[in-house]
Amino acid sequence: MKKTIFSGIQPSGSVTLGNYIGALKQFVDLQEEYDCYFCIVDQHAITVAQDRLALRKNIRSLAALYIAVGVDPEKVTLFIQSEVPAHAQAGWMLQCVAYIGELERMTQFKDKSHGKEAVSAGLLTYPPLMAADILLYSTDLVPVGEDQKQHLELTRDLAERFNKKYNDIFTIPEVRIPKVGARVMSLVDPTKKMSKSDPNPKGFITLLDEPKVIEKKIKSAVTDSEGIVKFDKEHKPGISNLLSIYSIFSGETIEQLEAKYEGKGYGEFKQDVANIVVDTLAPIQERYHELMESDELDLILDRGAEKANAVARKMVKKMENAMGLGRKRK
Ligand code: AQP
Repeated sequence: MKKTIFSGIQPSGSVTLGNYIGALKQFVDLQEEYDCYFCIVDQHAITVAQDRLALRKNIRSLAALYIAVGVDPEKVTLFIQSEVPAHAQAGWMLQCVAYIGELERMTQFKDKSHGKEAVSAGLLTYPPLMAADILLYSTDLVPVGEDQKQHLELTRDLAERFNKKYNDIFTIPEVRIPKVGARVMSLVDPTKKMSKSDPNPKGFITLLDEPKVIEKKIKSAVTDSEGIVKFDKEHKPGISNLLSIYSIFSGETIEQLEAKYEGKGYGEFKQDVANIVVDTLAPIQERYHELMESDELDLILDRGAEKANAVARKMVKKMENAMGLGRKRK
């Protein structure tokens, strides 16, 4: 029997190169070998303020992008989190298993709540909902970028705690982080990760950016004054970030790229990075626009929700039975 994969992306903005390299690209590589559940995690997105019309648009756009990058809806289950109520139900049960202290220790919670006066309770309880997303499908493997590693560790802790305290029903999932590009950095501040909700759009490239915009963002990416194309995360975070992006898109190793640009300046290097990103994204953008104009997307998402509901509902029942919720039926 095939092993199971679950992963999700928030429709909290336009998908970035970081989301693509850390998550989407891995999904395409893994879909042949695994039984995959890929989710548009809209309930996670509302842990911070969202404009309702923009959210609706981003949900649809994200669904189209999953498919445009090569995720095959015939092979995987692609669905929207809020269309499978079991996620919220299981999320609540796992909140009751989680401790406030461990949720407060999550780096993402600290980052996103830092300096804010009013922070939603959902921002704190996001990780148990994420654990629910994963555990509902008896997931073996979760392909994510490095920023999600801590949440994955918590998911494993919650699953183990539940199994021990109530009943042994959850599979303990493993994390899968890409070797290169696990953390794509901001183009404006290469010590910070690239994020789709960054208020400064110069910091990220989206999969839907126009070629001219991509070129401009890469050419003005913050680097250093040394003029040597060399991978050194600590001293040359900007150049190292561009090298990682280039390596992933071209298939050439970092060493090969360093050799190729020996004695050459940043101008030529940045132009080539921009070209390869533009060329890789062109067919993705074309497919995206076709999908956005067709009815195909709704049919795919309806089918995905139906399949996900059938599996997730059964796990919720098992959780309720284990915890003693509801009535026992003969
Ligand atoms: N910079 C990144 N490099 C590599 N992988 C990344 N991921 C996110 N940023 C990078 C991976 O993308 C997947 C989807 O992430 P998410 O939408 O669930 O939330 P996130 O991790 O918080 O991503 P963003 O772009 O930073 O969103 P916002 O700005 O809304 O918080 C995950 O697998 C993540 O690891």
